[in-house]
Amino acid sequence: MRYTLKVRWMETITHDIIIVGAGIAGLRAAIAAAEISNKIDVSILSKVHPIRSHSVCAQGGTAATLREGDSYNLHAWDTVKGSDFLADQNVAEFFVKQAPKEVITLEHWGCPWSRTPDGKINQRPFGGHSFPRACFAADMTGLHEMHTLYGRAVMQENITFYNEWFATSIIIQNNISKGLTAIELKTGEMHALRAKAIIMATGGCERIYAFTTFSHTATGDGMTIAYRAGVPLKDMEFIQFHPTGLVPSGVLITEGARGEGGYLINADGERFMKRYAPEKMELAPRDIIARAETTEIQEGRGLDGPYGPYIALDLRHLGEEKIKERLPLIHDVAIKLGGVNPVEEPIPIKPAAHYSMGGIHANIRTETPASGLYAAGEGACLSIHGANRLGTNSTSDCLVFGFVAGEEAAKYALSKDSRELPQDKILAEERRVFDQVLGSEGDERVSVLRDEMRRIMNDKVWIFRREDELQSALKEIRQLKKRFKSVKIEDEGRSFNTGLVAALQLDFTLDLAEVTIISALARTESRGAHSRLDYPKRDDENWLKHTLAYHTKEGPRLEYIPVTITKWPPSARAY
Ligand code: FUM
Repeated sequence: MRYTLKVRWMETITHDIIIVGAGIAGLRAAIAAAEISNKIDVSILSKVHPIRSHSVCAQGGTAATLREGDSYNLHAWDTVKGSDFLADQNVAEFFVKQAPKEVITLEHWGCPWSRTPDGKINQRPFGGHSFPRACFAADMTGLHEMHTLYGRAVMQENITFYNEWFATSIIIQNNISKGLTAIELKTGEMHALRAKAIIMATGGCERIYAFTTFSHTATGDGMTIAYRAGVPLKDMEFIQFHPTGLVPSGVLITEGARGEGGYLINADGERFMKRYAPEKMELAPRDIIARAETTEIQEGRGLDGPYGPYIALDLRHLGEEKIKERLPLIHDVAIKLGGVNPVEEPIPIKPAAHYSMGGIHANIRTETPASGLYAAGEGACLSIHGANRLGTNSTSDCLVFGFVAGEEAAKYALSKDSRELPQDKILAEERRVFDQVLGSEGDERVSVLRDEMRRIMNDKVWIFRREDELQSALKEIRQLKKRFKSVKIEDEGRSFNTGLVAALQLDFTLDLAEVTIISALARTESRGAHSRLDYPKRDDENWLKHTLAYHTKEGPRLEYIPVTITKWPPSARAY
């Protein structure tokens, strides 16, 4: 063993609130908490500099009801129908009422929204929405929102940033969250941080897949950290596949391209969506389009390319001026990473893993079952999106529930005394990270195990699922978990040991892959993005319920809780 732990009393850092993750939800939470009172001491801890958070990759927009002709009721109904009736309707109704306030707040803070000719915030159509309600900043909405929020957050004197600190565990005792451990990447030191309230806002876990729109950092750390500490993960079987991942990289080609009028065409030059969603066509919800594209490819109507069959996204009829004004990023990305100029040629695309509808179980106030622990953003599951999220409801979700989490955590922190951290738990975590992972003397490579996990998930836990394939995937993922115990990290140093971070992330994602598969195996129906070839119908009698996965030594244990229905009993879902 290369790293023998020197047992010592670790110095503890103290804040009222610690937010893990500095994307849209984390920054919004920090500002909301800091603004409640300047007596509240807020901190944000992020494994990357905030402006490198995955939220900057959000492209197409932020949904909000702003105009005559639209209504809260319509936005909530679209969200519920899009979710294939698995959304908690009370949460959806609350969410749509708060979203416009958040858009206007960002406006006041300087977010450069795209404008109508008369100077109002412009809105574009998006899939599954029956009104053009996606507020956008060209096709870099997330980037501009993040800069706006970051600028606001650094103005607050009561927010401390821990940039490039990697959280490894949270400490929950007697169902009360007390603090967390994190590695300061510059020094490689592990630190203990205590807080009255913790907000997990670490984003999604799409890097469990090989072909994904997500950044390499999207490894769902906060989900696994909470899960291992005893908090259940909810609805993890529901992974969204975005219809337009650029071939071959998977980089997102925004749905905004179809919102602006782009077509999806097959090898026969046909707009095939007429067979799958004749009314909404290219603006049907993502689960339906991803299945349609896959069917076209499987039935031999994909276009041939060096990276296998693909579908074409045709923007040529929009013209150069509109493409460059509304979709400047897509224009550049298509040329630089896809090798095609979208003004002249269709863009090669196919479905890519894009979003996790599941996450840390939390309620409408972002409270998890552990006292003092909150969750917001993609890493949380408040059940707004159910079995399938509508495009542009994610950034709105991050803003609305980032705000709620900040306020709730602040109120909680103001009413509680400070907490002591149990040193034995911290030392056990230090031992796990440095002795067991960094000090492991096996011969397995992180990159090999990671590639295998992603291949398994791509091949067997993709858009169409079957019991035999899911069983086989589970067996293989469990073998990888065993092999992980013999992983070898070449870099023996402490400072910026990216090999260690990669190993810890892989460890987290292996748990999430396992939970996804177990939850998917159990759900013997097809609903939203979870499409079982062996159970092709939605089954409201048996499956109108949320999955909760609890961590045990033997693997995830599943329980179920009901869906909240307020106004809209489940009905047929056609577009
Ligand atoms: O296509 C997009 O711009 C993605 C938006 C979203 O996931 O909400």
